[in-house]
Formats: sequence, structure tokens, C-alpha cells
Amino acid sequence: MTTKIDKASQFIKENIEIKPILGLILGSGLGYIADQVENPKVIEYKDIPFFPQSTVVGHEGSLVIGTIEGIPVIILKGRFHAYEGIELKDIVFPIYVMKNLGVKGLIIKNAAGGINRTFSPGDIVVDVDFINFTFKNPLRGPNLEEFGPRFPSLVEPVDKKWVKNVIEKCKKDNIELKQGTYLWTLGPSYETPSEIRMFDKYEADLVGMSTLPEVMAANHVDLKVISFSAVTNMAAGILPQPLRHEEVLRITEKIKGKFEKVVYNAIKL
Ligand code: 6GU
Repeated sequence: MTTKIDKASQFIKENIEIKPILGLILGSGLGYIADQVENPKVIEYKDIPFFPQSTVVGHEGSLVIGTIEGIPVIILKGRFHAYEGIELKDIVFPIYVMKNLGVKGLIIKNAAGGINRTFSPGDIVVDVDFINFTFKNPLRGPNLEEFGPRFPSLVEPVDKKWVKNVIEKCKKDNIELKQGTYLWTLGPSYETPSEIRMFDKYEADLVGMSTLPEVMAANHVDLKVISFSAVTNMAAGILPQPLRHEEVLRITEKIKGKFEKVVYNAIKL
């Protein structure tokens, strides 16, 4: 595994001139921030040795390396989900590559279903804690000793100071950031109303099919993490009638600008 990570990292290093310090993982339909990168260098996943490939047709799969507001970043444009049938090891492979490249912090964003009834579609929530409802772990197997401990702590899965600062900064921009616990499911089916009632009793505020594996790996290698969820819809049984897919797309489109500002605020700290 380590040699695969080294080979992928080496390939990327040979193709870039800057040293990224911040990693960004952008979910589907939310990749527009990558288009704002100054002096971008784009590397297709398929050209990087041992890099996982997205199986979803039409999904983007490239690294964008450049600067945002002068800060050297590496963006994962197109991410990997367990529901695609991609192994958890492969899902977190890019985290180890980023660590090798010298990245110190990781910004993740995702789309999620709202469970907490004080949330509405269009809200942006900082994921301050997580529930692993898949009972699967990307760190299972031989430990990569040179990267981190066998039994990594998840007692502070995201960086508290970073969260506090971003919330304050967004407040000044009149953007309200809520906070919540994100529950990870494997998907691809959404949940039943009974499952959502159960998750509600577990005090989960959001449900989604991504992010936690990357958060676990980032904690393993001691990267600082901040994670944002866009509430695109309420989860099953929360509203009298489910949101139509067109409505979800409309909301995703509507909050683009707001989300972009939030990510910029997270980058500039
Ligand atoms: Cl309702 N559930 C899950 N698992 N993921 C989602 C979602 C719901 N809405 C957006 N992503």
C-alpha cells in the first residue's frame, strides 16, 4: 500500500510546481470552486498510478492544483463513494497521497439529508461529530505505521478552532452556519422512515453517504479537518411529502454562491 501511495505522490509531485498545503474534497454538483483556482494544473485520476477511478458515468475525476487567494491548494474534483462499489481503502487513498504531498488541512463538503427538524433544505451545516452506521472502517487491515497509529483517536474528528473561526467569519458575512452530527450510511438507497426515526433518537442531525471515511483517514494521518454539509432535502418521513429531485437540484444550484463563500472563509483562516 505504501509503495502505491508513494508512486502516486511522486507522479503528482513531478507534474506540479507548487506545494499544496490545503486539500479540498468537493462533492458531486458542487465542483464549481475548482473552476476558481488560479493557475490551475489539472491531472486526470486515470493518469495517476494506482489512483482510484470513479465508476459513475459523467462524474468528473481530476485533481486541480493551484492557488485560491494565494493559498496553494489541491482539489479532489470528483470523489469516491462506497455505493459505487469502491473499496473503502481506495476511497481514502487520496488522503494519504495529500499527506505525502505536505497537505496540513482538509476541507470536505457534501450533500446530506436533514433529520434535525430545525434544519431546512438550503442550510449549510458544519459537521461537528459523526456516527458510523456502516460499521465498516477504511483503516481496517495492516496499519500504515509511517502515517499514523494503529488505534487513532476520533475524539475531536474536526478541528474545533477552525470550526469556531469559520462560524464567526460567516456570521460577519450574514451567512448562518448550523452545527450537527452527520450519520454515514453506505447507500445507494435512501433510508426508510423508521430508520430515520431511529437515527433521530441517536441524535443524528444529518444523514449522508460520504465524508466519514475521509474524516477517519485524515485523523489517522493527523490532518486538520473541517466538513460542511449542504442540506439538499429532508430525510424520509421528516416532511409530509418527499422533495422532488428537481427541487433538490434547484436548492443545490441556489446555495452555490453561499457555499462558495463558506469555503473561501475556511480557506483563508
Ligand atoms: Cl435522505 N440519505 C442519505 N443517506 N444521503 C443523502 C440523503 C438522505 N439526502 C442527501 N444525501
